[in-house]
Amino acid sequence: MRVETVPETEEDPMSRQHTPPTVAVLGLGPMGSAVASALARAGLATVAWNRTPSRAEPLRDLGVVVAATPDDAVRAADVTFAVLRDHATTRALLASIDPSALAGSVVVNAASATPMQARETTRWATDRGIRLLAAAIMVPTPLVGTEDALVLYSGDPDLFSASHDARAALGGEGRYVGDDPGAASLLDVAMLEVFFTGMTGFLHAAAMVGASGVSAARFLPLARSMVEILPATLTELARDVDAGEHPGAQDRIAMELAALEHVHATASDAGLDLRLPSLLRDLAASAVEAGHGDDGWSRVVDLLRDPRARDDRARGRATDGQLTVPPSSVQ
Ligand SMILES: NC(=O)c1ccc[n+]([C@@H]2O[C@H](COP(=O)([O-])OP(=O)(O)OC[C@H]3O[C@@H](n4cnc5c(N)ncnc54)[C@H](OP(=O)(O)O)[C@@H]3O)[C@@H](O)[C@H]2O)c1
Repeated sequence: MRVETVPETEEDPMSRQHTPPTVAVLGLGPMGSAVASALARAGLATVAWNRTPSRAEPLRDLGVVVAATPDDAVRAADVTFAVLRDHATTRALLASIDPSALAGSVVVNAASATPMQARETTRWATDRGIRLLAAAIMVPTPLVGTEDALVLYSGDPDLFSASHDARAALGGEGRYVGDDPGAASLLDVAMLEVFFTGMTGFLHAAAMVGASGVSAARFLPLARSMVEILPATLTELARDVDAGEHPGAQDRIAMELAALEHVHATASDAGLDLRLPSLLRDLAASAVEAGHGDDGWSRVVDLLRDPRARDDRARGRATDGQLTVPPSSVQ
């Protein structure tokens, strides 16, 4: 699979003296409404449809034309944004539309999915003559149409180019990440994982200090000071992961295991959920047991890549009677 992360090249506006595209939006939940609103505010002729018609009403004030049927919405559209709940809904709706109504439109599929679902939906669409471009909107609704917007696109590069003017109305950066239709979703879920693990780490730490009467607000500046170290740390981790080298010059997993034992014990004393500290401690313990105690933390990527090897080691420890990690924490 090829995943590119090349930002779209800016086109010279003077070289695009053509008529602005007509755009359609299918689905007017919070995100679809934000997309339709951004398109209309950018001055594009925008037609929208939603299963529940009342949700379309606020958009009329922005000049959005509300269509009675999905076919009516897409018939004149050069670009259609499908912003529905999921891919099953998107497929069912696209299948219900007369193919001749969709023939002139590039369909930008903005429903969240797994990479596999994105590939299947794109294949499904291609088989039916629907020109589908996969998309992943990476910002919350208030940022759509602003310079802080970020949307990832993948699939047929010609469809990416053909939808340029409509995509530009969403603001910020439209980033083409490769011709694999699953690439946008892959990077979407990977970014979500970074975001949710970060948020959950903060929440767990807030619960831990809260158990001793320290408020989350008081802890916040200290939490932020750790987060500020992360950009440089991630750069080093990325270098190590790609190089397959895990030098323990700055940090050693054996040392980090001791620190993570302290996190686990403190959370345990506070009566907190132990799944997160157990995971961290067990990863460090597994790395040490595998002989990587002198390596840096990036070595953990090998354990994350091959959970069976980690579990085999845990089972080995259990049968040898040399268990250093409680069995409940190795799952
Ligand atoms: N909201 C965000 O911040 C955000 C951020 C990034 C990505 N996304 C993605 O954007 C997509 C849309 O999200 P959303 O926030 O707008 O809300 P959502 O609840 O995921 O989607 C709501 C839309 O799907 C429609 N829908 C659901 N089932 C349908 C069906 N069986 N037939 C026809 N239409 C159906 C709804 O129509 P009705 O109004 O009739 O129910 C509504 O238009 C999702 O895939 C989401 O993951 C959202």
